[in-house]
Amino acid sequence: MTKTRVPVYADNAATSFPKPPEVMETITAVLRQTSLSPGRSAHKYSLAASRIIFDTREALAELFNCVDSSRIAFTCNVTEALNVGIFGLRGSILQPGDHVITTALEHNSVMRPLRYLQQIDNITLSILPIDDNGEVLTSELPRLLRDNTKLIVANHVSNVTGAVTDIEAIGRQKGNAFFLVDAAQSAGVFPIDVDAMQIDMLAFTGHKSLLGPTGSGGFYLRKGHDLQPLKRGGTGSNSEMEQQPDFMPDIFEAGTPNTLGIAGLGAGVDFVMRTGLNTIKKHEQHLCRLFCEGLTQFRGVTVYGPPVSRNRAAVISLRLDGKTESEVAQRLDREHNVLVRSGLHCAPGAHQAIGTFPDGTVRFSFGFFNTEADVTACLQALKDISDD
Ligand SMILES: Cc1ncc(COP(=O)(O)O)c(C=O)c1O
Repeated sequence: MTKTRVPVYADNAATSFPKPPEVMETITAVLRQTSLSPGRSAHKYSLAASRIIFDTREALAELFNCVDSSRIAFTCNVTEALNVGIFGLRGSILQPGDHVITTALEHNSVMRPLRYLQQIDNITLSILPIDDNGEVLTSELPRLLRDNTKLIVANHVSNVTGAVTDIEAIGRQKGNAFFLVDAAQSAGVFPIDVDAMQIDMLAFTGHKSLLGPTGSGGFYLRKGHDLQPLKRGGTGSNSEMEQQPDFMPDIFEAGTPNTLGIAGLGAGVDFVMRTGLNTIKKHEQHLCRLFCEGLTQFRGVTVYGPPVSRNRAAVISLRLDGKTESEVAQRLDREHNVLVRSGLHCAPGAHQAIGTFPDGTVRFSFGFFNTEADVTACLQALKDISDD
């Protein structure tokens, strides 16, 4: 048994850990130094809170190459952002009976809202399949497009296999459809340019590779698109009106925001930009390569998803012959102090596509703070379990 003393955290696709020291310091400093209610009062604490929110908006706009930071709205995670997109289109862009295209690698944050729309609005749904590398076949898009295709939703990076979808190729071929991208696993690692990729709405979460705390996230919405908000209420703006403001970002930001979470997210985004996406991606891909190459020495292991020669994320799904996924994950934790996730990862369709439904896989996901020693510990632990 090779129990490491400090846990090896290889579950960054669920949420990143640890967070950069700046994120923790920012959160405690903000909590200590100022009140957290922005845009409501005119005193200096409220103005300081507004400034924190503005700065995070600006940082995100820069990261996603969006010229106007007011096109970024905050939500509590990517699930809420995706729900704003999918349900906000209802009744305007998306009418009952319309056609929607998505991919075989979606998370339930996309699939459950879309399945619900099938139920309540009778929308029809087409799914872009994956190829032999496990990547979305974007070349199939023209064949699937119809006159009434109003929405395309695509996951940028699979949380099951690390496969990267060619978002630019979809953007090029989307026709008049509204293009919504789930950047939960890509923001903070892979470059995203909302203009070059022709993205109408980009949904992101704060607590994964953007290195912020849970409870933070949001979306970018291209100018000219009017979506219905999911919630209505106080915004601190246009208080004389009993109707929701119709301008960004206030239309989507009813209620006192998660100022603390947004402050931490801002510090995370600053860390990402200071470090550089390329440095982060290279480090994570290096760890992914080491791990996958190590796995080739094992007997009885099946690895799913794109080969390491592809541009891919450090999210690796595997199975060990003769062992259940939950048993492997549990033994990694209890006997070896290696923390991973097993099962379906909230993406049953992705597991159907790669042939691992309904049991799922054991998923290792490495982040910027993982080291080569962590990868070695993961390999050794897996070897011990598979040799049993
Ligand atoms: C691709 C993808 N989409 C959506 C989500 C949902 O993220 P959140 O729980 O932060 O809303 C996740 C999280 O695992 C994900 O990996």
